[in-house]
Amino acid sequence: MINRDQAARILKDYGQEHILKYFDELSENEKQELLSQIEIIDFSVLDNLDAEKNSNTVRGKFEPLGAVTIEDIASNSDEYISAGVEAIKNGKAAAVLLAGGQGTRLGFDKPKGMFNIGVEKELYIFQCLINNLMDVVKLAGAWVPLYIMTSEKNHKDTTDFFKEKNYFGYAPKYVHFFIQDMAPSVDFNGKILMESKSKISISPNGNGGWFSSLVRAGLLDEIKANGVEWINVFAVDNVLQRIADPGFIGAVIKSGLQSGGKVVSKASPDEKVGVLCLEDGMPSIVEYYEMTEEMRTLLNEKGELAYKYGVILNYLFNVKKLEEICDRKMPVHVVDKKIPYMNENGELVKPTEPNGHKFETLVLDMVHMQDSCLAYEVVREKEFAPVKNATGVDSVESARELLEANGIKI
Ligand code: UTP
Repeated sequence: MINRDQAARILKDYGQEHILKYFDELSENEKQELLSQIEIIDFSVLDNLDAEKNSNTVRGKFEPLGAVTIEDIASNSDEYISAGVEAIKNGKAAAVLLAGGQGTRLGFDKPKGMFNIGVEKELYIFQCLINNLMDVVKLAGAWVPLYIMTSEKNHKDTTDFFKEKNYFGYAPKYVHFFIQDMAPSVDFNGKILMESKSKISISPNGNGGWFSSLVRAGLLDEIKANGVEWINVFAVDNVLQRIADPGFIGAVIKSGLQSGGKVVSKASPDEKVGVLCLEDGMPSIVEYYEMTEEMRTLLNEKGELAYKYGVILNYLFNVKKLEEICDRKMPVHVVDKKIPYMNENGELVKPTEPNGHKFETLVLDMVHMQDSCLAYEVVREKEFAPVKNATGVDSVESARELLEANGIKI
């Protein structure tokens, strides 16, 4: 373990000396706690505050990317579904649920998956997802191994909840949890926030590190030993998410492409959604705020939006390729968030507006590391009901309406 002087030197290099402000007041245990945090934290992430201006924001040349459309899928559905079911039966597909986020916009202080979206009955977000996956298990007659990424902050709550609810009927043997890495949070002046006098404010470092965290947790050996070739990665907050969808898996396998991404047609040119496209000839996602007016409104020869296909955080990756790109450095995004912090008087404040930055890597950047990606169009009303906010757009209310419209009793 480092000592106080060593810690002070590290902090000085990064202009973070304030972290030791209360050191002398701390108990022996608290001192050790703080020093061990300083030892483990990768402070180099702070370099991205400057790098933000250059490296991450420099993008290549964007071009539109077509998709297999809902119509194409309908006319080939038997072929796709049987190829997908075959892969699942043979144990070639697994799923990874990204559940390490903090869901700050929802304002629910437990893991988002524990949110009860039911009205007249209990229906938790995790339960919706498991129910959706059970449809596939029943169709294929085989369990799909499910890996759930949590963070240090919500791991215990999440695992206890699954146990308490008997995994919502899923076979516990096929459910594995792993914990993602953390990164420090800073205020808008780049100073690391403290949670208490002895505790640096850290938060999950984004969903992009899921594969490296899975490897570090020792789960890759098992995945490979079981013959898994495809991993379907998906977000916790879409209650209509189709997981390990045989049609999607089958279409990607049949296409011979290296990966796949589920997409929906944009509701309007200005919809705030990332679009699957090409960047310097490679698959990529252009964020809505990166699109110029010309890109947003550009039409193709059919008179449709050229940049039409929005991503819904449901991707299919190939294990071999993931292993190849695992050690590649991913871009770090600096995002504004509401971060609880200790103020000058030593009191914990829970801000109602964003008060600082978190550092996150994003799964969507993995798409740009693929040689090719099949955009697979799905019906928005059937597969996309995100729960991001408490009210308004992409909210509990809108997700409830969509669940009901799909015949799900809430
Ligand atoms: P979001 O980008 O919506 O972030 O996550 P969030 O932290 O859940 O919510 P807000 O922005 O604070 O309101 C998209 C998906 O990625 C997962 C989330 O759990 C969700 O499934 N995620 C996000 C992680 O697994 N780890 C992270 O560090 C961040």
